Amino acid sequence: METAAANPLACYHYHFRAARWPCSARMILKLKRTPAIYLVGFMGSGKSTVGRALADELGWHFSDLDEEIEHREGMSIMSLFESLGEPAFREIETTALRERVHAVQGGRPQVVSLGGGAFLAEENREMATNNGVTVWLDCDLAMIERRVSAQTHRPLARDLEQLRELFAARRSCYECADFRVEVLDDDARGAVAQILALPLF
Ligand code: S3P
Repeated sequence: METAAANPLACYHYHFRAARWPCSARMILKLKRTPAIYLVGFMGSGKSTVGRALADELGWHFSDLDEEIEHREGMSIMSLFESLGEPAFREIETTALRERVHAVQGGRPQVVSLGGGAFLAEENREMATNNGVTVWLDCDLAMIERRVSAQTHRPLARDLEQLRELFAARRSCYECADFRVEVLDDDARGAVAQILALPLF
């Protein structure tokens, strides 16, 4: 089981004299101030499934950002990409995250699953990092390919070459998460157990 504190840079965003506090104390404090766990990671890494199961275990609210976007826009992510294009989708995504973060600031504990591209924009990374704890679900490429090829709803997973390029290019962004949890199989309970074992609670 690997539960490494992924990146000291994340502390850089946080203004609360971060360097003087041990990591676990800082994370617990962040979670007390803004009670949210944001799951980030590549498409098909299991963010929604693990997020739902984690929220169940904690008795927290669960929010899937893509589902919220589809609901508010009245169309699927695929249709949004096709009709408005990716840049417009990214703006909608940032707005949805901003609203979700406001709800977190209101004090309702929640697990939030972000779409695979949401953690790439610095603005989004800062919003999540400064308003809860971020956890990267790190899933290997073979497992990702197997999972996404069995589904058709992801506009950026249609071209396998492009998918592989995105996978490599995005890792450095996911590494900005507070913690990394390795996804070892299709059973969400393993990842949930790893998250519950993080020095957060
Ligand atoms: C995207 C991932 C998708 C969805 C959209 C774009 C991405 O979410 O937000 O298709 O850029 O990686 P999942 O990670 O839940 O598939």
